[in-house]
This record gives sequence, C-alpha cells and structure tokens, in this order.
Amino acid sequence: MCGIVGYIGNKQVLPILIQGLRRLEYRGYDSAGVAILDNSKQTAVNRVRSVGKIDNLADKVKTEKMEGTVGIAHTRWATHGGVTEENAHPHFGCDEKLVIAHNGIIENYRELKEVLEKDHTFTSQTDTEILAHLIETHYKGDLRMAVETALSHVRGTYGLVVLHADHPGTIIAARLGSPLVIGIGEDEHFVASDATPMLAYTKKVVFLDDGEIAEIHKDGFVTYDLKDKIITKHVEEIEWDDEQAQKQGYDHFMLKEIFDQPTVFEDAIRGRYDIDEGTAHLGGLNMNDEEMRRVNRIVLIACGTASYAAMVGKYAFERLAGIPTEVDVASEFRYRDPIIDSNTLVFAISQSGETLDTLAAVREAKRKGAFVRGIVNVVGSTIARETDGGTYIHAGPELAVASTKAYTNMVAIMVLYAIQFGRLKRITLATGQRLINALLEIPEKMNLVFEQNENIKKLAEKYKNYRDFLFLGRGINYPVALEGSLKLKEISYIHSEAYPGGEMKHGPIALLSKDFPVFAIMVKDQLYDKMRSNIEEIRARKAPIILVATQGDERAKELAEDIIYVPDTMELLEPLLNTIPLQLFAYHVAVMLGRDVDRPRNLAKSVTVE
Ligand code: F6R
Repeated sequence: MCGIVGYIGNKQVLPILIQGLRRLEYRGYDSAGVAILDNSKQTAVNRVRSVGKIDNLADKVKTEKMEGTVGIAHTRWATHGGVTEENAHPHFGCDEKLVIAHNGIIENYRELKEVLEKDHTFTSQTDTEILAHLIETHYKGDLRMAVETALSHVRGTYGLVVLHADHPGTIIAARLGSPLVIGIGEDEHFVASDATPMLAYTKKVVFLDDGEIAEIHKDGFVTYDLKDKIITKHVEEIEWDDEQAQKQGYDHFMLKEIFDQPTVFEDAIRGRYDIDEGTAHLGGLNMNDEEMRRVNRIVLIACGTASYAAMVGKYAFERLAGIPTEVDVASEFRYRDPIIDSNTLVFAISQSGETLDTLAAVREAKRKGAFVRGIVNVVGSTIARETDGGTYIHAGPELAVASTKAYTNMVAIMVLYAIQFGRLKRITLATGQRLINALLEIPEKMNLVFEQNENIKKLAEKYKNYRDFLFLGRGINYPVALEGSLKLKEISYIHSEAYPGGEMKHGPIALLSKDFPVFAIMVKDQLYDKMRSNIEEIRARKAPIILVATQGDERAKELAEDIIYVPDTMELLEPLLNTIPLQLFAYHVAVMLGRDVDRPRNLAKSVTVE
C-alpha cells in the first residue's frame, strides 16, 4: 500500500523522483522520502524524509543539496509503526551506505529483529528497516546476492528497491506480492510500483513477477529468480500517456474521472459487441461455446465499489443468462470454505488488480478448481496475471482514491458477458440487439446526466451540513444506493447507510426525522410503484427527500421538491446512469466541506494489506 520509484541514468534524479511520487501518492500519503547517491562523493547516500503529503517533502528538499543521477523514493501508508519521520522510507542499514524502500509486510519481522538486534541498531519501528539490516548482514560485496540471501529468510510480501553507495551504477529490485514495473529508456531505467511515474519518459516496461529480482543499470537490466537463474522478460508497451494521467483542467481527479465516463465507457465496449448477432465477444474468457453452456453457477468476488458493480452484474447474469450468480466480498470468500466445482465460473473484479483480499480469493478459488477470470483495469496487475483469462475494463488511470469510472466500466463488461452467455442460453437475437443498442446510447445519456451538474451542486449546498443520510433503492438500483452511500461517506466523512427500499420498514425507518435526509432512486421500472410507496412512508416521517427520477416523471414532484432527472434506459443498464448523480453529489458535498477529495483520510487507492 505504498509507492516506490527509482531512477538510474544521466539526468538529475531529484525532480524525477518527486514527480514520480506525486503520481504514486494515491497508493499512500502519510509520509514520504528520497535517497540519492551523492555524485560528488560516490560513497555517500543523501536521504530526506518528511511526514505528510509529497508537498512537504518537496518543500524540505529545496533546502538540501541533493544532486545525483541515481536514487530511490517512497510514499508511505503506515502498516508497522506510526506516522513519523523515523518510520518514513527509505531506510538505512547501520553504516548508511545501504538504503531500501519497501512496499508490503514482513510477517516474521519480530523473529528477525530479535536476532539482528544483537549487532545492529534500529532507528524505526518498521518491518522494512529489518530488511535493510538483514541485507547488510549478508552483504559481502555482491549486492544482488545479499538481497537474494536476505529474502530467503523473509516471510511476507514485498516490492522493494535497494541502493548501495559502493554500487553507484546499480539498483536492485525484488518483488513478492507487491507490484514493481521497470521502465526502459535511452541510457536510463526506472522502477516503480506502477508505470505512471515513468510515462513522461518511456512507454516500454517490464512487469516483475513474484519471486523475481532485477539488477538494474542505466543501460540495461537482468532479471533472476530467487535461485539465481536468469529470466527472460517480455517488454510491453503502455497505452496510457502522461497527459491521460493528469487532471486536464478539472479541479480534482475525481471530477475528471466522473466526466471521463462517457469516453471510457465507449473504450470498454468498442469492438466487443456484434450487433448482427445480438451478442458480445469477450475473447479473454478463453472458453468455447460448449464450455460456456456448461457453466451452471457464477461467483463474483470483489471489494468495495467493485463489489457493488458485481451486484449489478448478478442481476445481468441471472436475468439474461439464467445462471445463478453470487456476489462474495473477497475478504469473506477466502475464509468460508467456498463451494466451487468445475462448472463454477469465478470472476474477480478489481480496478487496481492489486487488492490483496481479492487476490487471495482468486488463489483460493483456483485451489478449489474453479475457472477464474479477471475483470480488471490496471494492465499487467497481479490479478490480471494470476487469473486464467479475463477482460480489461479500459477505464484508463483512475487516480482519485474514490472509484467512479472503473465502477461504470466494470458494469459494462459484466453486462457484455451476460449478453454473451445469455445468447448461448436463453435470450433471443432481438433482445440481444435491443440491449446492445441501448448500451450504445449510454454515453450520450451520460452527457445528459451531466447537464444536471449545476442542480446537483445546489442540492449539495442545501444538504452539506446534515450529519446522516439514508440511501434507498430497489432491485438493480439497490447496489446504486450502496455505491452512492459509500461515495458520500468516504470522501465527505458524513455518515450514511444504504438499504433496499422494502427493508426500510424493518428497522431503519426508526432513524427518520427532519434531520435525516433520504436519497432515493425512484426511476420508471418494474419497481416504480413499490418505491413510490416507500417514499410516501418517508414523507410521512418528514425526512427531507432527494429523488433520482426518470426524465418526464411529473408525478415525482408530488413527492419531493429536490429531484435529479435522469434519462430512461433499459432496466439492466440503469446503474450506468443512476450512479452518476450520486457520485457528483458526494463530490460537491466533499468539496464544499473542504475535504481532500482525491485523497480522503485513512484510505488508499490500492489496498494491498489484509
Ligand atoms: C471506493 C473504493 C474502494 C475500492 C476497493 C476495491 O471508492 O475505491 O472501495 O473499490 O478497495 O479496489 P479494487 O477495485 O482496486 O480491487
């Protein structure tokens, strides 16, 4: 859950590292640090660390003389030890020649520390510092061998980079469980937790796999396994450009990403549907028609927003393909001895592709013999590589911690899969075609939802000071309510809950009062009348109501004065539109309350701890 960046080449490294850390700040942002090999005295490493955001570090390094063309840096999300400068990375060994930055958790750090403490002095409470001293212990002049030997004593996960003053032309990188990417430039190389820090310099990358260790120089690198065997790596070309990773004039990444949705939705479905056959073709499934027909159960595993996208997917799979579908929160799935057989198809859904709970659930499902496919955004991420196939959602870089466009594209891909299965199992050509035509209209309809932005902003102004919210939806709009509630709480820190409309009378109705607003999705679908009755019950308790209603529904005005109108679409596709006003509402409330929208407190973008 931390970000690492390293550089070796001919350029001054400090600006590259600071800029790289800014790109990785979404991975953790409680403290940061840089370590640079001093060009004037090749035997010294200069290090600066600071608590707080990268801006603090950037201010601090201005007063330091940090010249050099080789360095590593780190942005931290604390796991072992509090948020202090001493605990910030990079960490030195005893003689301050060896320095390390690490992402992951060393599980046996206590045992290792007990042994090392006899001869080494520790200055932090981190598990990472143990690695620095352990490598130092094994260092006999060959840095890679020292890292390799040290890692053989370690239990846990790591993505790490190591520098040593005696080896000014080398960075060692190793990976087990936490991602690392090497970027290949002209006479320069990069290494980082993902490709964003290097995109301004190169698009050529190599993804390290678990159990690999790389010796990186400015003019090349060699990768080994932990038994010293050289591994040939495949160089990949990254499609995202640096520009895409910027805010493009929006105040926050989250707002940009909300407004990205029509475009990236088109990217998600492009080339993946066949209007003549009324079906979809998602090649990554790696199954022939016969194998697909044999699937008699689908399990969708995911966390957070991805799990709400999965709940929408459940409706699509059951309604279109008639395949019983379960949604399992990954952290629960892995520990409850799930029932899986060879006719069960498991999808792991993840924006980052690095969520540890989801990854562990993937491994558990595979162990039980399931086909596991990924529905993932980040190309080359661990889940993408460990699944037996799957589909990239093509949402582009999602840098705001709160997920928005990835959710939409996850839903899009699951609907396409459901159409593909459905056409083999039960839906007609005409239904398939109707669905695809409706999908093709979605980007335009999303733009119509954006026309409500000013209205939503006014509602945010009106409601921003309430302390509690209830979100309600029924059927396919229940996951929409869950997602709206999650968005509001995670970025505005306002308490909110979400319930299916019909559940309200079984408890939550007791909460309602004039101080407890209800955000309800009441669109024109088969549950419209049921939802209307629920809203009447809320009105009777005098709770303020904000409605998401279908364009043209004049009767909605009898129930509430605050209405956000959305275009009509097929019921299965409603979440693709109805979630957007909730994203915008949460965004505006958070901005008005002065919250750090893109980096809300206590959260991180990529949750690589359990
Ligand atoms: C909410 C949010 C989280 C993630 C969850 C899963 O806005 O971002 O709930 O959805 O941590 O992350 P991924 O999709 O990367 O597996």
